[in-house]
Amino acid sequence: MMLRALLRPTWLLGLFAVVATGLLAFTYENTREQIAQSERNALLRRLNELIPEAQHENDLLTDTIEIPANDLLGTTATTTGYRARRAGRIEAIAFTAVAPDGYNGAIRLLVAIERDGRVAGVRVVSHRETPGLGDAIEIERSPWISGFDGRSLSAPNPTRWRVRKDGGDFEQLTGATITPRAIVKAIKNSLQFFAMHRDTLLNTGTTTVSQNHE
Ligand SMILES: Cc1cc2nc3c(=O)[nH]c(=O)nc-3n(C[C@H](O)[C@H](O)[C@H](O)COP(=O)(O)O)c2cc1C
Repeated sequence: MMLRALLRPTWLLGLFAVVATGLLAFTYENTREQIAQSERNALLRRLNELIPEAQHENDLLTDTIEIPANDLLGTTATTTGYRARRAGRIEAIAFTAVAPDGYNGAIRLLVAIERDGRVAGVRVVSHRETPGLGDAIEIERSPWISGFDGRSLSAPNPTRWRVRKDGGDFEQLTGATITPRAIVKAIKNSLQFFAMHRDTLLNTGTTTVSQNHE
């Protein structure tokens, strides 16, 4: 009898720990799923801005190709290519590219490229550039990033893929040249990556792009 009385708090404590752990795990799972879902929604919204829904018939989020880490994309991790099809043919692909040399570090971009190698559009996904200076790269703040629409490695030619201050064709931002310089380079590299792997990226199968380091 004495022993049972002594053990009761232990049982209670044990029960409490189990219930608390269960609750925590449940909340964590729930939150994680919600975060993943809102990230998917944000990505889909951005993708649809670059490749309008009317221009493809497939689900961009599931029609993907795995792209291994590649210096031209500034990535050290595998990224995903999202592909837009019309009549079964891949007409455009969007993937993440990183400009490692922004004023305050890496700038993550979503770059969409048409089958013919022209830029369908670019969006800044994340950055730490200075508010009021470098943040005009966000489409919500200025149309600057739209200046890449329709450009390709032949228009302008590669030597003019620079900001004006460096003798190129792209506008810099007022008082901020470092941020645009990093982005121009990253988009040019993305187009070069596309040109090098075009056949695989536009292949209808779900193949993987070969590892390629410069
Ligand atoms: C506090 C502070 C924050 C700055 N933030 C940025 C920035 O986010 N992006 C940028 O391009 N330049 C930024 N600049 C300005 C750069 O230092 C540089 O003057 C500008 O980009 C022009 O570069 P350039 O001399 O190579 O043309 C910042 C300067 C200061 C003092």
